[in-house]
Amino acid sequence: MSNIISALEWRYATKQFDTERTVSDADIETLKNAINLTATSFGLQPFRVVVVTDQATKEKLRAAAYDQQQLTTASHVFVFAAKQDVSPEYVDGFMKMTAEQRSIPFEAIKGYADYIKGTMASKDAAFVKAWSNKQAYIALGSLLAAAAELKVDACPMEGFDSAQFDEILDLTEKGLSTAVIVPVGYRSAEDQSQHYAKVRFPLEEMFL
Ligand SMILES: Cc1cc2nc3c(=O)[nH]c(=O)nc-3n(C[C@H](O)[C@H](O)[C@H](O)COP(=O)(O)O)c2cc1C
Repeated sequence: MSNIISALEWRYATKQFDTERTVSDADIETLKNAINLTATSFGLQPFRVVVVTDQATKEKLRAAAYDQQQLTTASHVFVFAAKQDVSPEYVDGFMKMTAEQRSIPFEAIKGYADYIKGTMASKDAAFVKAWSNKQAYIALGSLLAAAAELKVDACPMEGFDSAQFDEILDLTEKGLSTAVIVPVGYRSAEDQSQHYAKVRFPLEEMFL
């Protein structure tokens, strides 16, 4: 079996983490890179990520997440916050970075920048928010796969109050709102859900 499939079979949505264990800085760095390397529409990466380690903050987040214990037992909590607006200035900043990182003049890609700005300007605010959220979810997938490969446990979660998360983490003033969260750490021996069989549709049903 390929390594990626055995890693994905090993992983599960962890309900209770071992509070004695902390994910190493090196593994957190790998997870950050996996998130940052994810594909996004136009490459705009219209989200930012807060990595929470402070226990008092985790307690507050747990209260805003239907008291789910993943929040306080995890080593680190990744909070994906989607940009609520993709302004012309943001697109220009991104295109200037593109020009720098590719060592080309900005003028060479100005037309493309104008095209992206035009596309974003043609969408209403609700579309842009939903679109940013979708980009964050692509990164969520990258994080889950990378964590599995590292044998780091994780739980993707959308069972939380995003307005409360935004307040606790001061996201609103930054033009961000919580899209999805992923506590990571190591499974507790007491977490019974690690023994549950995976439930998935057979491939014949999934693939048409
Ligand atoms: C976007 C998303 C949101 C989820 N929200 C929660 C959650 O709030 N709490 C939780 O315990 N599990 C949550 N899950 C975990 C799913 O229930 C779990 O991934 C699914 O049942 C498949 O099981 P597996 O991940 O263990 O293979 C969420 C999963 C995803 C992808």
